[in-house]
Amino acid sequence: MSTLKSQFTEKYGPWAVVTGASEGIGKSFARELASRGLNLVLVARREELLVKLAEELTSKFRIDVRIQPTDLSSKSSSLELLQNTDDLEVGLLVASAGFGSSGPLLLADKQIEADLIEVNCAAVLQQCQHFGSRMASRHRGGLILLSSVLGFQGAPYSANYAASKAYIQSLAEGLGIELKADGVDVLSVAPGPIATGFAARAKMTMGQTMTPEVVARVSIAALGARRTVRPGWLSKLMGWGLSTAPRPLRVQIIGRIMQGMSKHQ
Ligand SMILES: NC(=O)c1ccc[n+]([C@@H]2O[C@H](COP(=O)([O-])OP(=O)(O)OC[C@H]3O[C@@H](n4cnc5c(N)ncnc54)[C@H](OP(=O)(O)O)[C@@H]3O)[C@@H](O)[C@H]2O)c1
Repeated sequence: MSTLKSQFTEKYGPWAVVTGASEGIGKSFARELASRGLNLVLVARREELLVKLAEELTSKFRIDVRIQPTDLSSKSSSLELLQNTDDLEVGLLVASAGFGSSGPLLLADKQIEADLIEVNCAAVLQQCQHFGSRMASRHRGGLILLSSVLGFQGAPYSANYAASKAYIQSLAEGLGIELKADGVDVLSVAPGPIATGFAARAKMTMGQTMTPEVVARVSIAALGARRTVRPGWLSKLMGWGLSTAPRPLRVQIIGRIMQGMSKHQ
């Protein structure tokens, strides 16, 4: 094993929990972490996709993989994930499970919007407290949380989703300072549009996109060095472009963009 690889596994190994590993950004994180020698707990609802990924990763890399089919919108199922990983030394959490929604909030399905808060916020909080305290007691580890370019201001026509990502951005920034003295690195990842299953589930159309592989690669490289990363030129461009505008104007601009991206109009 190369020195860099062994330093990474010493700091963030031997096990990583990756939620949202069945597709998209979480799946790319799983592949990237497997190539760095970490054992993985793969979490999502679609068991057959987790089994397929586990087979791919165990045959390609000499690592152990455990699958944990879990619906993170269910509190009891979320708790089971924590209990079922109690026998493992988890040094890294990648909380990538999440979904979006679009269109006018008053027309949205109330249960879906409530589930969004459970999956995108409540489950992440629970995982951060659980794995974070175990990492802090060992004085090493990392938490990677998925924010979004939409997390830096309100977003008309994706109001609840943007609010959930503002929560994650704020949580990661605050927790990053709290856990610094405990040797635990916290990274907020704020991508722009990424070509995954996300847009179809959120009923959004995306024009220009970046790949989930870029998100995983750039984020892992930034872990321990940065508090927030905007992976790829598209998220950087959106961030810089909006940063000069006052917040109320940013909300207006994002509203125009989201109205165009929503299929509900
Ligand atoms: N794609 C983008 O443009 C973009 C931009 C900014 C931020 N993000 C954030 O990046 C993260 C990953 O999104 P993605 O682009 O990779 O989307 P994706 O391709 O749709 O993947 C979402 C993952 O979350 C899992 N998931 C969804 N609901 C779940 C539930 N109730 N319980 C357990 N797992 C659940 C899905 O697995 P199952 O369906 O198998 O459960 C899937 O593995 C999300 O937090 C998203 O908000 C995405």
